[in-house]
Amino acid sequence: MKKFHALTVCAKKRETSDSVRIALHVPDELQAEFAFKAGQHLPVQIELGGKKLRRTYSICSPQGEWPLEIAVRIQPGGQFSEFTADGLSVGDQLAVMPPNGQFHVELNATRQRFYLGCAAGSGITPILSIMASVLNAEPLSRFALFYGNRQQGTTMFIDDLFALKNRFPERLQLHFLFSQEEQEFDIASGRLDAAKLRQLFGCFFAGAKPAEAFVCGPDTMITSVTDTLIDLGLAADLVHAERFGARRKSGVAPVAIDADTSAFTKVTVVMDGHKKSFRMPRTGANIVDAAAAQGIELPYSCKGGVCATCRTHVRKGEVKMATHYGLEPWEIEKGFVLACQSTPVSDELLLDYDKT
Ligand code: FES
Repeated sequence: MKKFHALTVCAKKRETSDSVRIALHVPDELQAEFAFKAGQHLPVQIELGGKKLRRTYSICSPQGEWPLEIAVRIQPGGQFSEFTADGLSVGDQLAVMPPNGQFHVELNATRQRFYLGCAAGSGITPILSIMASVLNAEPLSRFALFYGNRQQGTTMFIDDLFALKNRFPERLQLHFLFSQEEQEFDIASGRLDAAKLRQLFGCFFAGAKPAEAFVCGPDTMITSVTDTLIDLGLAADLVHAERFGARRKSGVAPVAIDADTSAFTKVTVVMDGHKKSFRMPRTGANIVDAAAAQGIELPYSCKGGVCATCRTHVRKGEVKMATHYGLEPWEIEKGFVLACQSTPVSDELLLDYDKT
């Protein structure tokens, strides 16, 4: 089972007026555990006022490069992001879990593929890692980016994107869109939605269209962009989406231990070869919260069904899941579930956290 490790902040700088970029030193002995695929994310934990707070951030560094870099958009009133902006300094340590997530590119040096990235706002973070990694590792592949923001001043990674364009002028196309600043050409104005995507395709991809796409941004943008890409002829299994902006569904309620005892389930979890058991009500509680209420800490980060940090395998019994954005269809078929979104259905449940 993945665990938190203390990583030292080795660099920190303002990326834009409302975002900060943090580099984390990974010591030699942890580099195998923190090896990542471009597009994956890191669960990060801090303690504020005696309370543990967890968030998940995509890695923006290219695959195979150290230190690990993440970028945090500062949300007004957001405890975690305000702490990282104002309370965190170079030399401090952050509790970080090894990289995770199915949103990633499989690099292949012999491949000759045309990739597309569609990003809105801070959704650029994993896409930047994917772009740089593809351009570094696949000398025959090309990449095009459609990147939507409100204004140029809050556009993240603009220097990195132009540096990449300078290194790979023939193989990288960059197209910026701004929704709150008038642009000289209509095609560069507005949001990245279905109509704009069709317009961009018509204008820039009259010849060859992309074969594989990576999409990251707010939930509404992801839905319209992925549907449109499939409509435009991309294979559905080659359109990948990262739904970090997905809203939490209300199907998973807080723990209610005082439920009818006849509707309890015995849950056994296997972690690092050890078994632990607890009982939980079959309604009103998700497995992560129910275990925590009884002193058993199971892995989690977003608790929104998105990051898959809580992913586990059902070896015996049955659960129902409220959402499962963070799982691929093959994982659901093979019996993997998101514990933060699951409530038991059967009398007994055996969950294997060691199965990958
Ligand atoms: S904790 Fe993120 S999906 Fe469950």
